[in-house]
Amino acid sequence: MSSLLPQLPATLFVDADGQPRLVGRVILVTGATGGLGQLVCRTAAAAGATVLLLARQEKRLNLLYDALRDGGAAEPMVVTLDLSAQSDAQFEALAQAVASQLGRLDAVFHAASQFVQLAPLALQTLKDWERAIAVNLLAPFALTRACLPLLRAAPTARAVFCAEAHALAPTAFWGGFAASQAALPGLVRMLAQEHDDHPDLRVHLLIPGAVDTPMRERTHPGETRAQRRPVAELAPLILNLLGAAALPGDTGGTGGTAGAAGTADTAAAAPMIPASGSIVRA
Ligand SMILES: NC(=O)c1ccc[n+]([C@@H]2O[C@H](COP(=O)([O-])OP(=O)(O)OC[C@H]3O[C@@H](n4cnc5c(N)ncnc54)[C@H](OP(=O)(O)O)[C@@H]3O)[C@@H](O)[C@H]2O)c1
Repeated sequence: MSSLLPQLPATLFVDADGQPRLVGRVILVTGATGGLGQLVCRTAAAAGATVLLLARQEKRLNLLYDALRDGGAAEPMVVTLDLSAQSDAQFEALAQAVASQLGRLDAVFHAASQFVQLAPLALQTLKDWERAIAVNLLAPFALTRACLPLLRAAPTARAVFCAEAHALAPTAFWGGFAASQAALPGLVRMLAQEHDDHPDLRVHLLIPGAVDTPMRERTHPGETRAQRRPVAELAPLILNLLGAAALPGDTGGTGGTAGAAGTADTAAAAPMIPASGSIVRA
C-alpha cells in the first residue's frame, strides 16, 4: 500500500515482523481532504487502518475515497459533515454509526480547520470569530466527547488535536484564528488528566510547523515553498501518534511538552511522545 505515499519507503508502514503498523485500528480524521488531513488518511491507510474521512465537500471526499481504495486500503467510510453546524445529538449519532458499522474506534485526529484572515482586531467580525471557534474548538471538543465511550473501550486510544504555533503565543493580527485554537492546550490537558486512570487513552496537541499545505499559504503568505517541508515528512510522527505501540521514552503521565526535538524527517528522527497528554511540535 506504499502507493498511497510513493515518496516514502514501504518499510515505514510495517513493524519489525512485517505487519502493517496500524492494522485493525479504526481512525476518524476530520478535515480529511485538507493538506494535513489527507496525509493522515493516506498514512493511516497505508499502515493498515480503516479510516473514516470527514469533511464538508463531498466531491473531494469521494476523490480521496477512490484514491485510498485504488491504493489497496481497507474500505474507508465517508462522513460528509459541516462541523460548524452540529449538535451533541448529531455527534452522538455519528459515534453510534461508527459503533454499529465498524464496531470500534481507536483514534480521532482533528485536522479540520477554519481560517480567519489575518487582520487587526478592529477589522475582524463576530461572525469570523464564531465560525472559527465553532470549527476549531467547539467541534473538536464535542466530537471527542461523543466518541469517548468508544475510545475508552478501545485497548489503546488516541485523540489528536492540531493548531498553529500562534495558538500557544498569540500575537497581533492573528485574531480569531489564534484565539479559536488557544484553548486547545487546556482541552488536551483536561482530557488527559481526567483519564489519568485510563492511561491507554493518550491525548496530544500537534503543532505541525512549516509544512506545505493550503492552510500554510494563507497563514504565512510571505513564506516561499522552499521554506516549508513537504507534508509527507510528518508521516513517521503521525504513525507514532496514532499507533498502539509503546514509544521509546514513553513513561505515561500527564502534561508533557514533547518536542522541540522533533524534526520528523525520518522514522528514526521522529520525536518521542512521552506523556499521556502532551504538546507535540513537529
Ligand atoms: N500547514 C501548516 O503548516 C500548519 C502549520 C501549523 C498548524 N497547522 C494546523 O493543522 C490543521 C490542518 O491544517 P491544513 O493545512 O491541513 O488545513 P487545510 O488544508 O486548509 O484543510 C482544512 C480541512 O478542514 C476541512 N474543513 C474546513 N471547514 C470545515 C467544516 N466547517 N466542517 C468540516 N470540515 C471542514 C476542509 O475540508 P472542506 O472544505 O471540504 O470542509 C479541509 O479538509 C489546522 O489546525 C492548522 O492550524 C497547519
